[in-house]
Amino acid sequence: MRKKLLAANWKMYKTPDDCRAFVRDFLPLIANPGRDEIVLCPPYVDLHATLEAVKGSGLCVGAQNLHWEKEGAFTGEVSRVMLVALGVTHVIIGHSERRQYFAETDDTVNRKLESALEAGLAPIVCVGEVLEEREAGLTDDVLRRQCTRAFSGISAKKAEKLVVAYEPVWAIGTGKTATPQIAASAHLVIREEAVEAFGAEFADKLRILYGGSVKPDNVKSLMAEPEIDGGLVGGASLDPKSWSAIVNY
Ligand code: 13P
Repeated sequence: MRKKLLAANWKMYKTPDDCRAFVRDFLPLIANPGRDEIVLCPPYVDLHATLEAVKGSGLCVGAQNLHWEKEGAFTGEVSRVMLVALGVTHVIIGHSERRQYFAETDDTVNRKLESALEAGLAPIVCVGEVLEEREAGLTDDVLRRQCTRAFSGISAKKAEKLVVAYEPVWAIGTGKTATPQIAASAHLVIREEAVEAFGAEFADKLRILYGGSVKPDNVKSLMAEPEIDGGLVGGASLDPKSWSAIVNY
């Protein structure tokens, strides 16, 4: 059995005070603390406040991005060394918004993945097709390409903490959710790529999350699908009540 992981991606929302208030209101609403891995991913400037707020609760804190170098003249960037020093344990890599608006490529995703693993962070690597690719029947090809390139040159031993998130771009922030069947078939493609890159034993343990309009009213059916090992949630994770309804699926 793979332990489920539920991650809140707060994108460019919330101040440090907002994060503290969120954690205060959210913690008492968790029905089964410790059942699943729960990760909050606020903006960089909120990481410290969020880490302080979750202390002793068992909740984890992740960043939404990192640079692949450990330091250097890269104005505006943040490295693995800085994240680890803060106490961050997870990091989202290659989110479709980063690919779409900030020119991230399969190659930068690969470099960032290597960097995160090097530092002992648990990377959540995002893959997923856009609507035109799905309609053209290219979903599997896109997922295979994104995974092959992301995993390139990385050993199974090094990749131990890897998590993948399948986030079909047409489902992000649109209210359109992939059915559990659509997600499961994409997850199987990703798992096959993990077999190729890291071997069957590794792939069997790899957690593959689903992301894209996960809401309190659809989370239960998604989590009941054995191929879905958790969720990466945007909009519905911003409010303690709806996020607790999701983690209490
Ligand atoms: P929504 O849950 O708002 O669709 O966002 C999904 C997402 O992008 C999580 O990374």
